[in-house]
Amino acid sequence: MRHLVSLRDWGREEIWEALELSLHLKRELRAGGNRPLLKGKTLGLIFQKPSLRTRVSFEVGMNQLGGRALYLGPEEIRLGERETVEDVARVLSRYVDGLMARVFGHEIVEELARFAEVPVINGLSDLEHPCQILGDLLTIYEKRRRLEGLKLAFIGDGNNVAHAWLAGGPKLGVSVTIACPEGYEPKEEFVEHAKAQGAGAKVEVVHDPEEAARGADILYTDVWASMGQEAELERRRRAFRGFQINERLIGLAKPDCLVMHCLPAHYGEEITYEAAHSPNSVIYDQAENRLHGQKGVLALLLA
Ligand code: CP
Ligand code: NVA
Repeated sequence: MRHLVSLRDWGREEIWEALELSLHLKRELRAGGNRPLLKGKTLGLIFQKPSLRTRVSFEVGMNQLGGRALYLGPEEIRLGERETVEDVARVLSRYVDGLMARVFGHEIVEELARFAEVPVINGLSDLEHPCQILGDLLTIYEKRRRLEGLKLAFIGDGNNVAHAWLAGGPKLGVSVTIACPEGYEPKEEFVEHAKAQGAGAKVEVVHDPEEAARGADILYTDVWASMGQEAELERRRRAFRGFQINERLIGLAKPDCLVMHCLPAHYGEEITYEAAHSPNSVIYDQAENRLHGQKGVLALLLA
């Protein structure tokens, strides 16, 4: 059974296969519509946290491929509370052809994958956000026609999105520098994994956003406090001051650098409104490519 729990588990070839399928399905859609590759198939969508992009793009993606998606919100299954994760995985496997799960603890999506008899896709856990990075790689590839040799500066928290960049970027030759305040570094296991990829990519963790931004092809950021960290917001606001994508930081990167944000954004914190809406910004292309990127994954795992 093939799952997408962590990009650490996917090799370079598998990632490219998904990206090529995505590009193909995007062209096919634009040329009049997709063939019903997933006709009669249902994808279960389990959410412990809120979502705009992930929910809508998976639902619309399944529809466009001739299948359907079933939304199961936080109040419905109450994973691990109303019944065990194992039972949820085993029971849902009798109804649906695939599962997408957005969870708090990463071990929950791992456990779902362990017991499910259908493919499981991680739609964000506290540890990683693989679907985001697949959509982002697609966006960068469309804009630059290559990935290898590009330098990405991630400005902010060493969080799930930073981890997914470390897991997926260097494998495809994208150098990743994480610039974060002290105490907010990405987990060492992700940094080590990233460094072990070869592919000519450099991997660094620094504490100076300007150092990271200098000469970068891509400036990337995400919120200072992720879902589930709301109580830490004030402390984080103090710690992250200066870790912001703004006109000054864009001025240090390559003139044609791509400004990226997974969204939702908190303007005035990790990014200014002006930077997010500058000619360098591709934030809405990124959001759109969640749809196309995930359709590639669905075609790979469910068709
Ligand atoms: N970027 C992203 O995953 O957005 P949602 O939280 O809205 O799904
Ligand atoms: N790091 C953010 C990403 C949201 C898509 C969070 O986990 O809330």
